Amino acid sequence: MATIRLLPPTLVNRIAAGEVIERPAAAVKELVENSIDAGAGRIELLLHDGGKSLIQVTDDGAGMTREELALAVERHATSKLPTDDLLAISSLGFRGEALPSIGAVSRLAITSRAATSDAAWRIEIEGGERREPVPASLGRGTRVEVRDLFYATPARLKFLKSTRAELDAAVDAVERLAMAHPGIGFTLSDGTRTPVKLPPIESDDGLLQRLGAVLGKEFAANALKIFAEREGLVLAGYAALPTLNRATASAQYLFVNGRPVRDKLLVGAVRGAYADFLSHDRHAMVALFLDVPSSEVDVNVHPAKSEVRFREAGMVRGLIVGALKHAMAAAGHRASTTVGVAALGAFQPGGGAGWRPPHASFPPAHPSRGMAEAAAMFQAPLADAHAGAATAELVAPSAPAPGEVAEQADGYPLGAARAQLHGTYIVAQTADGIVIVDQHAAHERLVYERLKAALAASGLARQGLLMPEVVEVAEGEAARLVAHAPALAKLGLVLEAFGPGAVVVRETPAMLGAVDVQGLVRDLADEIVELGEGRSLEERLAEVAATMACHGSVRAGRRLSPPEMNALLREMEATPHSGQCNHGRPTYVELKLGDIERLFGRR
Ligand SMILES: Nc1ncnc2c1ncn2[C@@H]1O[C@H](COP(=O)(O)OP(=O)(O)OP(=O)(O)O)[C@@H](O)[C@H]1O
Ligand SMILES: [Mg+2]
Repeated sequence: MATIRLLPPTLVNRIAAGEVIERPAAAVKELVENSIDAGAGRIELLLHDGGKSLIQVTDDGAGMTREELALAVERHATSKLPTDDLLAISSLGFRGEALPSIGAVSRLAITSRAATSDAAWRIEIEGGERREPVPASLGRGTRVEVRDLFYATPARLKFLKSTRAELDAAVDAVERLAMAHPGIGFTLSDGTRTPVKLPPIESDDGLLQRLGAVLGKEFAANALKIFAEREGLVLAGYAALPTLNRATASAQYLFVNGRPVRDKLLVGAVRGAYADFLSHDRHAMVALFLDVPSSEVDVNVHPAKSEVRFREAGMVRGLIVGALKHAMAAAGHRASTTVGVAALGAFQPGGGAGWRPPHASFPPAHPSRGMAEAAAMFQAPLADAHAGAATAELVAPSAPAPGEVAEQADGYPLGAARAQLHGTYIVAQTADGIVIVDQHAAHERLVYERLKAALAASGLARQGLLMPEVVEVAEGEAARLVAHAPALAKLGLVLEAFGPGAVVVRETPAMLGAVDVQGLVRDLADEIVELGEGRSLEERLAEVAATMACHGSVRAGRRLSPPEMNALLREMEATPHSGQCNHGRPTYVELKLGDIERLFGRR
């Protein structure tokens, strides 16, 4: 049997490097973190072949003396844990592992000049073999060069991705750190292009500016400020309005005590907070900064420090969900400006061909199947006497008294209703533009918010039907509806079994008014099937309420009087979340006069 032996330091470092330095982007992250910890104001990166052949990081930070330089590349040598207290970590680094690990698997050279010294020194390590520091020249700060990463570990070399993919990952690593440090300037070049160019920002709203520079101008224009505090936890940052959304969750960033982390908790919390406003295949954009007392979080759970463990994950989640919901409620009827931009694009000569919506936030994602069908049903012209057919007729409100127009339009964000077009769209005049409202989508949202408020308060008021109505459905569906009868009663819908393939409805939610009972019950039956067996209706009351809201809404194709239209606009202004329907689609589009003038070449 082989004897037990201590491994030589080079091998130990190589093993550690396997965990800490997974790919060039991981080395980039470690080196940039070191520069940030050194108090740098500017950090410049040069990458060749996505970092595979060269990573060079130059900073203007505190620098190192000859002695410090020699120590820095030793394993477990760090300047960042002065008191041996793993709970009192205020820097990004603390393990004293990054430089020796990189040095074990590459050709590493560090040139540095301490702020207190006028001489620079350079040290080289090749495959873990350290040379003595030699005099060098450097203005100030530190320059680290990593050549031929993983040349000493060919197995790892094989797993590297294309230059493009490695460069993208490195850019992402730098951008994440840059978002948390708006006061520091960052550039990253690959020798020909400069994919990261972020000048230092000193102003008070530096964070929003930096987020805009990384996530796009639309994010900055459509972000809601987030702030919440609970038991020593402080959450700050920005979250985009639901109408600005993405196909993946990749634009959701969480920073814990200034450290970018990837945590499933964030994805879950954001999904929960936006559930009412986004269809399940669209994702919100957020950048959240959580400050937690060090006793509440363990940052030492992942080799690359990209995951953390919270002592009270439930509280953190609650804080995030609460803060996001609060911000969206406060945003009221606001929908993102990208909606108007997209609409204008469609008006451009050529029908908008070639024009692409910013971040695919519009046109909207496909609505869920049930809702699409329901919507289609309501788009159909109605036969009853009360409603006009869905024609292209214009219903102009009676002419307002002179002076009334401007006053009305000025006072209200959504303006004064001027016309109803195609029996579906309300056109309103605002102080500086035009608003077009989808009356069905808007009303659906309003009814939904009312239903939710009533549910939260006491349950929904019911109204008895003069004649109980029998609805025939499939046998299984009838059984399922009856099984969920108590929950439906809470929503104001009282039904009972009526033979094998039917139910009888005795009461309906008062709020919905005269509702199409047949259509409502059939949609609910569909919905309950989609819920599956596992989840109770109580858990999904909001979704069921959404289906009901759809039935209680002003149908497309229904004529509205001017007072009715204006009442709808005023209620939208007063109702949280009314800028989007339940799937993150806008309920209205706003065009500014300036943009319209540009359309006609008047500007
Ligand atoms: N760019 C730099 N400017 C000044 N000092 C630096 C720089 N990079 C590294 N150092 C010094 O070298 C030490 C070792 O760096 P290294 O990254 O290996 O470990 P660390 O940052 O302390 O911890 P971690 O392994 O968690 O990153 C640091 O503690 C710091 O004192
Ligand atoms: Mg470090």
